[in-house]
Amino acid sequence: MSSPLSRLTCLRDYEVQARQRLPAGTWAYLNAGGADGLTHIWNEQAFKKIALWPRVLNNVGGGSTSLDLFGVRHKHPIFIAPMAYHGLAHAEAEHATAAAAAAMKAAFVVSTQASVPIEALSHRSAEGHLWFQLYLQDDRYVSLDLIQRAERAGFKAIVITVDAPIQGSRNEDQRQAFQLPTAVQPVNLAPYACRQINTTLPAGASLFQHPLIAQMPTWEAVAWLIRQTRLPVLLKGILNPLDVAPALDTGASGIVVSNHGGRVLDTLPAMLDCLPGIVAEVRARVPVLADGGIRRGSDVFKALALGADAVLIGRPILHGLAVAGSTGVAHVLNLLLGELEATMVLTGCKTLSHINTSRLRWLDSTTRHELS
Ligand code: FNR
Ligand code: LAC
Repeated sequence: MSSPLSRLTCLRDYEVQARQRLPAGTWAYLNAGGADGLTHIWNEQAFKKIALWPRVLNNVGGGSTSLDLFGVRHKHPIFIAPMAYHGLAHAEAEHATAAAAAAMKAAFVVSTQASVPIEALSHRSAEGHLWFQLYLQDDRYVSLDLIQRAERAGFKAIVITVDAPIQGSRNEDQRQAFQLPTAVQPVNLAPYACRQINTTLPAGASLFQHPLIAQMPTWEAVAWLIRQTRLPVLLKGILNPLDVAPALDTGASGIVVSNHGGRVLDTLPAMLDCLPGIVAEVRARVPVLADGGIRRGSDVFKALALGADAVLIGRPILHGLAVAGSTGVAHVLNLLLGELEATMVLTGCKTLSHINTSRLRWLDSTTRHELS
């Protein structure tokens, strides 16, 4: 092969290759941030403000990256974030991602807007950890039906995304006039006659009068849904510590600190800048996961040091998928895991529980400027 995957040495290399392969409109949908893309940029920059601070000559032999979450042992803390329409990146769509997740023993959060039926992925649920991401529908019984379908298909947890009742300004998609091809659709929503969440609402009338907003689900609807399932339910898209108490009051089993990769509301703060405040407010009552801008194993390490129990990876998974299908996704995960292990060895951390802020150093503003 003229361009073996071994020449792709890190996630950035996959990004460059994926961009070359995908049509401009598809690239805009899969990769752009909302509006001016500032949050998207800040997510990645936040990791560059923090340096690693090593300890040496600790014997880390026999260490591991494993963790327990909701009574399940995971080989490592690098999970796949929910993302719509993997079919845009590769014809094998979520089937390829699920195969890579199983091979790499990575939990895979499948989106409500997946391009294949969740039932078609169920044979993977025994080998791996498939989780289901729910977009709240305006009819709570439709939301419940989606959760029950995921339960029946063997999914192990539910992630309710709470930060995107509408889509926000996707200026780059609009400039490219991006439209979903007919072969790629939100097939899991086909059975329901409900209004589509997370879409751009028509301009003109006030948003507040639109039925999707006027009857928008609130904490009460989430609490009701959580009472209907025995699966752990995480709430994804919490940034403000003031939302931690209501989130835990719903009975949620976990929180995902996320700004949706900067795709919904631009100029939200970087995930990493919000993480410590959420962790402090949660006080170890439930696991805290986090996503946004993680592109290196050292970024995973920094998020864990600031209190995340595990992290989710978004765009780089689709880059791997676009470049080399299932193999590409597995390679992306393997690169990150290898980098995380090397970071742990070189900072003297034998297990994830050794990773804490004693291994971080905040750069001063001059150095930060030089790095960015
Ligand atoms: C997303 N994200 C997302 N989140 C969610 O809860 N449900 C979804 O259907 C989607 N869809 C989606 C599509 C695409 C193309 C992207 C890039 C992202 C957000 C995703 O779960 C995650 O929060 C961010 O992608 C994390 O940031 P990074 O890793 O992409 O920087
Ligand atoms: C997105 C929606 C689907 O980010 O969450 O595109």
